[in-house]
Amino acid sequence: MDLRAQIDPNKIPKHVAVIMDGNGRWAKQRGKPRVFGHKNGVKAVREIIDAAGNTGVKALTLYAFSTENWNRPKAEVKTLMALLLTSLKNEAKELVKNNIKLQIIGNQESLPKSVLKGLNKVIEQTKNNNALTLTIALSYGSREEIVNAFKNISKKIVNNELLTEEIDENIINNHLYTFTLPDVDLMIRTSGEKRISNFLLWQIAYAEFYFTDILWPDFTKNDFYNAILEYQNRERRFGKTSEQIETRNEI
Ligand code: FPP
Repeated sequence: MDLRAQIDPNKIPKHVAVIMDGNGRWAKQRGKPRVFGHKNGVKAVREIIDAAGNTGVKALTLYAFSTENWNRPKAEVKTLMALLLTSLKNEAKELVKNNIKLQIIGNQESLPKSVLKGLNKVIEQTKNNNALTLTIALSYGSREEIVNAFKNISKKIVNNELLTEEIDENIINNHLYTFTLPDVDLMIRTSGEKRISNFLLWQIAYAEFYFTDILWPDFTKNDFYNAILEYQNRERRFGKTSEQIETRNEI
């Protein structure tokens, strides 16, 4: 059954973040090498971008490669990088057609120059699009992002561009890689693991979590719609009481 029709268009999460997990196990179940799982994971990425666009989600952030993933076997890292680059290059036309803006977050210094150059081309091609912002977290770690923000804020203080007293949540937000994005409303993790794995720690302060046992290559549009439906059934209180939320809704 197509679950899309059941989605309330007035309660769409603005920002959905996804930890795409389980590619390796999916491949292992089929007696194939891990990279086979990553290759099939690309298909799921395409599905989910489409589904996010269909439902009116404004920002979709995908965890493609963490700062810790550099410790994986060299051959896997190399294949993953190549896969990311070719998939996003191949999708460039489709991204433009669907008014999708691509951006990357993470420690760009550690990325191979060729990957960065190729991705920057697609980023440039899609920079004026505004239906959906697709953010790929690449060589990303939330703690590294926060350390980087601290450094940049400190530099401004030393240069007298900022006073310590002026530091507030907005200032910190504006120094994170995600400064253009709203807070995460819904965080999805596939493959049965129930961890955050250093992903968007600041940005998920009030996010709803959706965990599923489905391995990433098997994750479909309908699974994405299901996550949105579950999100729509949750009561988001932001620290308030149910009664306060009901009153607010009546206004
Ligand atoms: C986690 O599965 C997945 C990754 C580390 C890579 C995700 C990358 C893709 C889906 C490829 C392309 C992405 C884009 C954005 C085009 P795992 O290897 O940790 O699986 P396991 O936990 O079963 O070992």
